[in-house]
Amino acid sequence: MRKTLLLFMGIAIVFLFLNQQARGQNQASKLRAAEDGLALTPPMGWYPWNEFGQEPQNEKLIKEIVDALISSGLKDAGYVYVGPDEGICFSRGADGKLIANLAHYPSGLRGLGDYIHQRGLKYALYTDAGTRTCSKAMPGTKDHEVEDMAAFAAWRADDVKVDWCNTDGQDPAQTYTRLRDAQLAAGRPIVFSLCSWGVGEPWKWAASVGHLWRTTGDICGPGKADWSTAMKNTAENEKLFAAAGPGHWNDPDMLINGMDGLSATQNRSFFSLWCMMAAPLMAGNDLRKMTASTIQILTNREAIGIDQDPLGIQGHIVRREGQAEIWAAKRLFDGSQAVLVFNSGTTQAEVRVTWPDVGSAQSAALYVRNLWTHQTTGPRRGGITVTVPPRDVALLRISESSAFPRPPVIVADSYWVSFHAPDPGPQKFTKAITVKTTGSDELPRWKVLPGLPSWLTVAVTKHGKSQTLASTVSTAGLAKGLYHAVVRADNIEPVSGQPMSALYYDVDLEVAGGGGKN
Ligand code: GLA
Repeated sequence: MRKTLLLFMGIAIVFLFLNQQARGQNQASKLRAAEDGLALTPPMGWYPWNEFGQEPQNEKLIKEIVDALISSGLKDAGYVYVGPDEGICFSRGADGKLIANLAHYPSGLRGLGDYIHQRGLKYALYTDAGTRTCSKAMPGTKDHEVEDMAAFAAWRADDVKVDWCNTDGQDPAQTYTRLRDAQLAAGRPIVFSLCSWGVGEPWKWAASVGHLWRTTGDICGPGKADWSTAMKNTAENEKLFAAAGPGHWNDPDMLINGMDGLSATQNRSFFSLWCMMAAPLMAGNDLRKMTASTIQILTNREAIGIDQDPLGIQGHIVRREGQAEIWAAKRLFDGSQAVLVFNSGTTQAEVRVTWPDVGSAQSAALYVRNLWTHQTTGPRRGGITVTVPPRDVALLRISESSAFPRPPVIVADSYWVSFHAPDPGPQKFTKAITVKTTGSDELPRWKVLPGLPSWLTVAVTKHGKSQTLASTVSTAGLAKGLYHAVVRADNIEPVSGQPMSALYYDVDLEVAGGGGKN
């Protein structure tokens, strides 16, 4: 009866470990995301490498960054994946298993993940496909794929980035496919992020292996942004637009916004280019020390809406005029078109964007929204002329309608629910997490999926722009012990009808006390 009710209330599936393994392997030739619903828009979050390198990283820094990510408003803008990258996280024990570096991470790597999950963020960990990581301070996964991926699952990572240092003689496609299989066997839904810097041309084969792949070398060394490398990465990534789509992204590397070495104009232009390329938006700056301008750029929801558009199209250069690039071919979920005019030169540019540039007839009457000034003009016929200062941009949305809706951004207060039953007698407990929409006013439609384990039910209730996901556990018939499930909730973007990235959260139940069966 309760299960029938659940179907009407609209939620969720639990991926049991063995099921996941079998399903994952059967689907190996398909898009990863078609199976797990992860990263259907480009992942957003924060990694330390650009600002901090490998050192001095520790639990204190990551926790301070997590707190800053929330208090600065980045979390509400959609930045969710966070973790230590190559933060000297673990070593390998004599038994071959990974051991968390408790000197740097006193709560352990599971403890750090719990801190992140409790705050409604997702946990990203890092490793390497070779014998050692890039700094050589940590072991790589070579010949330890299965036990390492099991460790990441046990630490409850939601994202694993796999680097490509110290891989002499290894084939990228074979290596990452082996890691994919090991990661699926570990049974935890995880965003799988390939970091071979373009080695092995992952855009040709990795859509069935991972959710995103680096297309370029590092965008900067620790501590200082580098404009010319950012432009090189842009040019290399731009050409690969056909490979990108929901669940399979080209990754031209982390954001350099807010770092030393960029002007305010360059910051805005850089962010616009990344949004236009549907690139992952992993901030790389020190979130504890952001200027108002950096926050304003990183949280510009209208620009982010271009990046996070549910259709997942990577825009590209359709035309050049002198040193100005006209980026287009990025249709958005409501039928509007994103356009970027980027002046890469050192003198002012005046550029006419014509309606045929955005696939419309010259005679069409279209509205133009400027995504940095937040002003709409029109309807206009024929086109619009923009004046763009050196290294600056005009980031526009062009539409037959003046509405310009933004896609929903799902923000949760927690991704972890835990219960303690003091004894194994039949008892029920309920705890809810709240999920709000900070993008559009339109609420996503929750999709009904079967498959919860017998001790767990989940009910979704809508309250205006938020929903609660209430988990009820029943200890009836359960032996003493620890029970864990990962709940999956799918939903559909209401304007386009596109699936949105699946929402996953952990549920733990500890049945304590005497008299249990085990
Ligand atoms: C490589 C990667 C970077 C970063 C560092 C860490 O250079 O490309 O993104 O993870 O390793 O050492």
